[in-house]
Amino acid sequence: MKVTYQVSDINSHQSFGGKMADDTKEIITIDRSLFHMIFDLFAAGSETTSTTLLWIILYLIKYPSVQELCRTEITTVAGLRQVSYADKDKMPYTLAVIDEVQRIASIGPIGLPRACMEDVSISGRIIPKHSVIIPHFMSAHYDENYWENPTEFQPERFLTDEGKHIRHHKAFHPFSLGSRTCIGKNVAEMELFLFTTTLIQRCRLQHATPYESLDMEGVQSGITLLPKPYKVRIRDRSCSVGVERQISILLK
Ligand code: HEM
Repeated sequence: MKVTYQVSDINSHQSFGGKMADDTKEIITIDRSLFHMIFDLFAAGSETTSTTLLWIILYLIKYPSVQELCRTEITTVAGLRQVSYADKDKMPYTLAVIDEVQRIASIGPIGLPRACMEDVSISGRIIPKHSVIIPHFMSAHYDENYWENPTEFQPERFLTDEGKHIRHHKAFHPFSLGSRTCIGKNVAEMELFLFTTTLIQRCRLQHATPYESLDMEGVQSGITLLPKPYKVRIRDRSCSVGVERQISILLK
């Protein structure tokens, strides 16, 4: 079915769950399901991933020794060649860092609302039919019954004693859970892995204004938790003359 949209309808969804804006008036005609697929991809798929990457960079500059451990792992496995997703099983520490950032940053602190279709009993509590249920993932991510010192950044918690990556954890649900779990989880995991490894392999990331402390508190934007703007200095490691090229960027 073809549907006519105003461009303003598309532009207005500035963030996942964000506010409406823009009064541009331009009419376009597009297949309805194609429109919704493209919208899902951008609304649900790009801000979530880019926000997670902003948090990853923030934690990498806050903890340079963690960044260095990742770099050693990445360069041991891949050297200077392009990292591939097939390398991930040989990079448990880097996967643990990504998971730990997703846990501690909890960019989607609460999930999308769901309705209870019938009375349900959970641990002796009755949740009546038609109740609206909003899962609180952040509380699971900080639950002391499951995590030791949950407010501390400790990537090792996602490693077994043998150094293997713990892929599933009972209290770790950045992509939600159940039958309506994030449909883009696999794509997101691949993107996070490839962006993170390639960044660390090719660049040295540093806090550009080290005399200022880094604020690790998030700010709410729609239903997403963003890091506050920070400045990162990126040094290009591939420069062969010994002097690394460097640029400073304000990330927000
Ligand atoms: C780090 C990146 C991402 C995070 C943290 C994330 C997280 C989530 C969460 C928490 C939900 C709610 C699920 C629920 O209602 O229970 C969701 C839904 C969804 N996500 Fe993601 N997501 C990410 C990346 C992506 C990507 C890359 C795509 C698409 C390529 C995507 C597409 C979707 C869609 C379409 C839904 C709605 C699913 C439904 O209601 O059936 N997401 N995501």
